[in-house]
Amino acid sequence: MGELITIKDLKVHYPIRSGFFNRVTDYVYAVDGVDFVIEKGKTYGLVGESGSGKSTTGKAIVGLEKVTSGQIIYEGHDITKSSTRKSIGYNKEVQMIFQDAMSSLNPKKRVVDIIAEPIRNFERLSDQEEKRKVQEMLDIVGMPNDALYKYPHEFSGGQRQRIGVARAVATNPKLIVADEPVSALDLSVQAQVLNFMKHIQEQFGLSYLFISHDLGVVKHMCDNLAIMHKGRFVEIGSREDIYNNPQHIYTKRLLSAIPKIDVDNREAHKESRRAVEREFQTLQKEYYDNNGRVYDLKQLTASHQAALLHLESEGI
Ligand SMILES: Nc1ncnc2c1ncn2[C@@H]1O[C@H](COP(=O)(O)OP(=O)(O)OP(=O)(O)O)[C@@H](O)[C@H]1O
Ligand SMILES: [Mg+2]
Repeated sequence: MGELITIKDLKVHYPIRSGFFNRVTDYVYAVDGVDFVIEKGKTYGLVGESGSGKSTTGKAIVGLEKVTSGQIIYEGHDITKSSTRKSIGYNKEVQMIFQDAMSSLNPKKRVVDIIAEPIRNFERLSDQEEKRKVQEMLDIVGMPNDALYKYPHEFSGGQRQRIGVARAVATNPKLIVADEPVSALDLSVQAQVLNFMKHIQEQFGLSYLFISHDLGVVKHMCDNLAIMHKGRFVEIGSREDIYNNPQHIYTKRLLSAIPKIDVDNREAHKESRRAVEREFQTLQKEYYDNNGRVYDLKQLTASHQAALLHLESEGI
């Protein structure tokens, strides 16, 4: 299928200002040198705990956050400059879905205007054409037609998230950055939203960057994943690599945090969770340098890389 977007040594550092003169005294290294490729029609998972830099990475890719250094190559163009994004129509082709649909959808606007807004930025449609287009989008996400003239507060969380998806796909984008799109939803509703996101992907040949703090949620969505910690990647690989052969302790820790329904093995699961936690506490040196920084990624196989100090003992 080929690559859609390539992220090279991306850094986003936020200045910290303090003191009487409000000078920049330090930086938050929110994203500190990450490399990855999102392929056409595929889903790339970006997983890590709170504050690891996931949203900042996503926002940098859609152009909502200023990049400190590095490149984001989309169809041969480095889109880190807003002038380039404009000239190649990037803002139409790359959209974002936010975690909290309640605060990302304008409460004073009706659904028809919310979904039509991104279309209006790029196309001139008559009122009739626009209405038809919005109805088509609502159909795709399984919302009734009478939703058109309602306001966001008149819907449930799952329905609002569908409206967010409809809005994101309205411009017929090639990439959607979905930042924790189902985290605020009940498990059953999560599954519904994930299902139609997959459905839409097949229908339109979309790529997703799917951001989550939960490896359980993204398991069936992602073709490839990056595990992020402290602004860096600790491990990247195919779904197989990450779920069946994790190498970094941080990845193992996230995996052991996935709730298990299996009642029979609950004790065994608890014990393995404790073992992972012990390893995480005692073997810091193996996984983090003296400054607590993640090591550079080492290539393990063609698809699999992990931030390990030594390769020998890994038994791959
Ligand atoms: N505008 C900002 N100014 C300064 N620091 C920021 C800003 N936005 C984020 N940060 C910091 O950058 C780091 C990464 O934040 P980010 O929102 O990318 O994390 P995240 O992985 O998305 O976390 P969460 O799972 O909680 O959404 C955090 O330490 C955060 O406090
Ligand atoms: Mg976030």
